[in-house]
Amino acid sequence: MKILWGGATAASQYEGGFEEKKGLDTQDCRPYLPRTSNATEETRLLTKEKIEEAKKTNSNQYYPFRNGTKGYEHLEEDIEYLEELGLDIYRFSISWARLFPNGIDEAPSPEGVAYYDKVFELLVKKKIKIFLTLNHYALPINLVECYGGWKGRECIKYFLRFVHFVFERWGELVDYWLPFNEINAGYFSPFNGVGLLKGEDGYNLSEVFQALHHQFVASAKTIRLAKQMKLKGKFGSMIACFCYYPLTSNPEDNLKLLFEEQMNQWYCMDVLSKGEYPYYSSKFFESKNITLNITDEDKKVLKENTCDFVSISFYTSSVITVDEAEKTAGNLVVSTKNPYLKASEWGWQIDPVGLRTSLHRVYERYGKPVIVSENGLGARDVLTEEYKIHDSYRIDYMKAYYEQAQLALLDGVPLEAFIAWGIIDIVSAGSCEMDKRYGVIYVDADNYGNGSYKRYKKDSFYWYKEFIQRHKAGGIN
Ligand code: BG6
Repeated sequence: MKILWGGATAASQYEGGFEEKKGLDTQDCRPYLPRTSNATEETRLLTKEKIEEAKKTNSNQYYPFRNGTKGYEHLEEDIEYLEELGLDIYRFSISWARLFPNGIDEAPSPEGVAYYDKVFELLVKKKIKIFLTLNHYALPINLVECYGGWKGRECIKYFLRFVHFVFERWGELVDYWLPFNEINAGYFSPFNGVGLLKGEDGYNLSEVFQALHHQFVASAKTIRLAKQMKLKGKFGSMIACFCYYPLTSNPEDNLKLLFEEQMNQWYCMDVLSKGEYPYYSSKFFESKNITLNITDEDKKVLKENTCDFVSISFYTSSVITVDEAEKTAGNLVVSTKNPYLKASEWGWQIDPVGLRTSLHRVYERYGKPVIVSENGLGARDVLTEEYKIHDSYRIDYMKAYYEQAQLALLDGVPLEAFIAWGIIDIVSAGSCEMDKRYGVIYVDADNYGNGSYKRYKKDSFYWYKEFIQRHKAGGIN
């Protein structure tokens, strides 16, 4: 078995093209705030007032997701780069608000359809396989205002309308489908994940879990629709995966780890993959006074429409302790520092071996083919006067993670694809910065949207290209 090597972007972080009749979505309302210790938190916790500010035409905030990295304008050139790299597979997402600006529109926007027609046409022409994320965080703001985001059951109906159109138009062209990006983010980052606004007392957990339930049902109904329409692609679920370690051998650390891992990491995938709520969820709901509205029809649709493959984003691992300990940042979460690991400038602890362990854990738990749908190093790159980017740190990172992924395959984990995150530089989803770059293709833009937006190949571009070629020639590198 050979791993498909890929690269990914997400519509809100990459496309831009805000003026092209696209509707306003949740990501468009997040301003860039210069980074202080809590600036990233600030920008992820949107309130009604902040949305009102974002809707003003004379707001003096800069909203970076409205520009992305101008993929909308650079599409053909970017796909040429992907071809030159030799990518087997490209993961991208469709912007719901580009197709259905208000989320509830009866018919899609012709401009949006024309843009995605072009994306699919180019990828098919270049023979690059397609991994399509139907919803990567961004939700039309109208659905937040009318229904409170995914806590409103109505979102299921409108999502299915959007999905039905995508299936009819491009359904035959997609190899792998993902209804929701990092579905567990709905729990630890409710604005990003399920479009909930933060009230004065924070988030209401019943609403958070009701919203997640609606996404589960939407995901299962998406799979049911695909079966009815006889689509050829495989359907997956995806979580942000952390590989938890207890800080010490104190049994209490280990027990805490078990509970954190269950609710933060496995919960959503347990539902989507096994088709029912896991045994441990009732106790958790009871302890937090969470009440949910789950109908018999919901239970049936979940049971009958589980996913075909499981996928993870893996950047960093987490450490759990019942005691006070030094903290560091992670993927939309805060974790305890691991004394054995180095971290990126943004505090994300680098743990390639943790990836191999996690691939085992995921396969062991679900017994389905596995995909790494995101991995990469967010780093500050420098464009030299000769227009070069010497990112040896990224090459080291990629080498280390890719080696562990291949070892997991040799161990027997059916790893079908490994997809490098932000293959072309994009705006950071967590911190709204341009400075935090993942790409092997550099985009000349800064945190405030200044720059030519020209593309340049980084040293890692040449490394990845050779790596893919070697892999195509002989399997394991
Ligand atoms: C994942 C998201 O959480 O991590 C991506 O699916 C995101 O959208 C990626 O970009 C990296 O996170 P960040 O915050 O560095 O952009």
